[in-house]
Amino acid sequence: MSSEHSVKDFESAFSVYMGGSGQAALTASGKMAIYLLFKLLGLKGNVITSPLSCSMAYAPIIANGMKLKFVDINPKTFVLDESKAEGCIDVNTAAIYVVHLGGTTPDMARLRQIADEHNVLLIEDCAQGLGSQFSGRKAGSFGHYSCFSFAKNMWLAGCGAVFSHNPVLIQKIREHQASLPEAPQGLLKYRFERDMLESRRGFDDVADQKYYTDFVMPAKNANVGIDYNGYFTKKDVYCRPSDIQASLLYEQLLTIDEKNYVRRMTAHKIINGLDDLGVFQSEHERQSVYSKLYFVPRRDLDNRTTIPMLVADGIDAKHLTKSHGVHFQERFDMWDRFRPFVAADSLEEYCRIHDKIVALPISSKMKNEEVSHIINRCRCIFG
Ligand SMILES: Cc1ncc(COP(=O)(O)O)c(C=O)c1O
Repeated sequence: MSSEHSVKDFESAFSVYMGGSGQAALTASGKMAIYLLFKLLGLKGNVITSPLSCSMAYAPIIANGMKLKFVDINPKTFVLDESKAEGCIDVNTAAIYVVHLGGTTPDMARLRQIADEHNVLLIEDCAQGLGSQFSGRKAGSFGHYSCFSFAKNMWLAGCGAVFSHNPVLIQKIREHQASLPEAPQGLLKYRFERDMLESRRGFDDVADQKYYTDFVMPAKNANVGIDYNGYFTKKDVYCRPSDIQASLLYEQLLTIDEKNYVRRMTAHKIINGLDDLGVFQSEHERQSVYSKLYFVPRRDLDNRTTIPMLVADGIDAKHLTKSHGVHFQERFDMWDRFRPFVAADSLEEYCRIHDKIVALPISSKMKNEEVSHIINRCRCIFG
């Protein structure tokens, strides 16, 4: 397969996508973007972040010898509560690390102000928020640095990126990557086959979680038990992106806003249809990208009982502890390997909500009948 666009082409196109004034370095994955950013910044101390996220948002930080200091989530948006972040900054704080869970951002203008006032870095994890906005401005443009993954709402190539207005750091990442091997062919083949298989699966098929248990999970679990430092030096992780990957991404970047728009509209239809059942939403969420639609039903129902009911109805609902092909969120306190690296404050909202959150599927291909089906079934179960 030949590539029409180089890594450099994609980096320029992505910088334009992000507004044109910053620079981007393409990386082999989202986790490599975070890993290289922290490694090359050489930060020490603790990082303030929220506990509701994918473990792969934290692993690269821990692998760089830093400690996580969790701040509670805002129960309306499920992302870091900016009003609590400031009180957690201490002399050991190097950065506030914001994860735009499911594409939702906290108040980014306020967070940048807090970061600047206290002389700490603001770093955005936009792995789930490519194309999200806060106050009409793209997620990823508020922080001193931001990291992206192209394995969520883009297909086939994997990869990630660091974006910043600091050209020195971006250059450092490029130079560091030049010494790394290209992503191995086997990894590209795996990604390609997985994404192609997934894209052929219809709405009903996806409800068959066997695909995830038989195919996706074993690949993920193969890495469990590896210490985080060891993980990032594995040959299919510690590598650089190729022109073929850049080419696949370049084409998709041209239509990403269109697809995000459809996803957003689909999500709003479902939100409106379930409004009186207690779908949490805010103005920020309305500008989300929505790879999944998260909500907590007003009735006090555990998601372990309700999700199987939705799945039985052909709806690919998930809870956060289960891998669902887009991203997965674990209870950090259930992960023994996290404990030594975490200095948690009181996390009342997180603990109250975590096991009740239901994630509904959102895709740019969803038909009206599918949207109505989701609304009707949810109304029966949660109403
Ligand atoms: C919030 C977050 N950050 C980082 C990552 C890592 O991205 P990648 O899978 O491209 O390595 C993920 C992956 O799911 C994620 O959800």
